[in-house]
Amino acid sequence: MTPPPPTPAHTWDKVLRSARRARSHLYWGLKSRFASVPDGIRLNSSQWDAEYAAGDWERLDAITEVAHYMVILGFLDYAVPRPKVLDIGCGHGRLTRLLALFGFADYLGIDISAEAVRQAQSLAIPKTRFEVADMNHWDTTERFDVVVLNESLYYSENPRDLFERAASWLTGEGVVIVSTFRQSPGSRRIWSQVDAVPTKPLAACSVTDDATGHTWDVRVMRRPTW
Ligand SMILES: C[S@@+](CC[C@H](N)C(=O)[O-])C[C@H]1O[C@@H](n2cnc3c(N)ncnc32)[C@H](O)[C@@H]1O
Repeated sequence: MTPPPPTPAHTWDKVLRSARRARSHLYWGLKSRFASVPDGIRLNSSQWDAEYAAGDWERLDAITEVAHYMVILGFLDYAVPRPKVLDIGCGHGRLTRLLALFGFADYLGIDISAEAVRQAQSLAIPKTRFEVADMNHWDTTERFDVVVLNESLYYSENPRDLFERAASWLTGEGVVIVSTFRQSPGSRRIWSQVDAVPTKPLAACSVTDDATGHTWDVRVMRRPTW
């Protein structure tokens, strides 16, 4: 069936949406290129708790966020089927819920917010474990097939050091997946720090949600051979 011709209101709506998207691209593009990672985005654990308790991070459950989570899951499942996963800065368990649809051997999520961890634990997904921990100081003797840094590297005191440590927790064939929200201040600087570590890139892509104009950059890398 042929769709009806657009009415003037439709056309005007489309123009407005495009203009809003263009403005958002320009603003956030400039901000992410030139801004350094501001100390202000590094909240303490009580501040994170308050945000999770207020439901602020439920926005990650929105349909407009789904695409970048699915890219992470696709990379993760492709690299190692039924992997053992470490998720650093796991939040309230958005990735975990989607991961349960894919299947995995074991999952450990760490987060500085006890409230986020409580919410993630309440999902009661089998084979998942959670720890309240500060990624800046956390360490482990466990090894993982996949380490995920999904929108969490910016909050690290030293992103390059965290990325290197994350890679050192991988099994031989393991992969590390990094996702950043491009419009986040300093996201480009995160990538320059990641790029300074000699990893073997496997795939990289950018995902844009057209409704919001939000873009995520997602990369999957093998353990560096230093
Ligand atoms: C933008 S949220 C992303 C949550 C989750 N990775 C996701 O994308 O669904 C960032 C998360 O990093 C956590 N975080 C921030 N600083 C942290 C730290 N020093 N150690 C561990 N987690 C931290 C926050 O509590 C929050 O849950």
